[in-house]
Amino acid sequence: MATAEGIDGGNGVLLRPAVAGDAVRWLELLHDPDHRRYASPAFVEVPADVDALAERLAGSAAAWSESAPGTLVVVAPETPEVFLGDIGWRWSTGERLAAADLGYGVHPDARGRGLARRALVALTRWLLAPDGRGLARVQLDHSTENPASCRVALAAGFEREGIRRGYLPLRDPDGSVRRHDVCLHGTVTPPP
Ligand SMILES: CC(C)(COP(=O)(O)OP(=O)(O)OC[C@H]1O[C@@H](n2cnc3c(N)ncnc32)[C@H](O)[C@@H]1OP(=O)(O)O)[C@@H](O)C(=O)NCCC(=O)NCCS
Repeated sequence: MATAEGIDGGNGVLLRPAVAGDAVRWLELLHDPDHRRYASPAFVEVPADVDALAERLAGSAAAWSESAPGTLVVVAPETPEVFLGDIGWRWSTGERLAAADLGYGVHPDARGRGLARRALVALTRWLLAPDGRGLARVQLDHSTENPASCRVALAAGFEREGIRRGYLPLRDPDGSVRRHDVCLHGTVTPPP
C-alpha cells in the first residue's frame, strides 16, 4: 500500500522518504567495502560527510510525493526511524518507454534476513501496479561477480535476461575502476 508516508510492503518492510536522521547509518552503508565495490560510481556519489548527505536527503519527500524517480529508505515497521537500507529507481531510457532501473543496498548489520528481496518486491509491486506508478517494465543489473544480488533478484521474481559485457564501471578494493560484465534481470509483472 502506498501513501504519502511511503510504501508498506505488507511483508515486514516499509519504504519511506529519507530524513536527515538517516544520514549517519546511510553513510556507514556507503562506506561499506561491499557497497563501495558493487554500487557504481556512475550512479552513486559518496558525500564528503554526514552533513553533506543530510542536505542531499532534504528533497526526498518532495520526490516521493511527485512519484518522481528517487531513492527510498528501507525500515522495519516496528522501528521506522532506523535506517536499514536503501532502494531507488531511475528511468532506463527516458519516461516515454515507462521502464525503470533499480538499485539497492542493505546496511551491513541488517544483511542476510531477506530485506533486499522484500524491499525489491515492495517497490516493484508499486512501480508496475496500474494503480501505483503504472510502469511497463522494471529491470536491474548486477556485476557477474556479485552472486548475492543475483539471489535477491531471482527471489523477487526478476528473470535473468542475459549478460551485458563491460557495461558497468565498478570500483575494485584498491580504488581503481574497472568495467564489469553484468547480469540483466527484468520483470513485467508485479511480484505476488
Ligand atoms: C546484495 C545485498 C543488497 C543483499 O542484501 P540482503 O538483505 O542481505 O539480501 P537477502 O537477505 O534478501 O538475500 C541475500 C541472498 O544472497 C545470498 N548470499 C549472500 N552472500 C552471498 C555470496 N557471497 N554468494 C552467494 N550468495 C550469497 C544469501 O544466501 C541470500 O540468498 P537466499 O535468500 O537464497 O539464501 C547486500 O549484501 C548489499 O547491500 N551488498 C552491497 C551492495 C550491493 O551489492 N548492492 C546491489 C548492487 S546490484
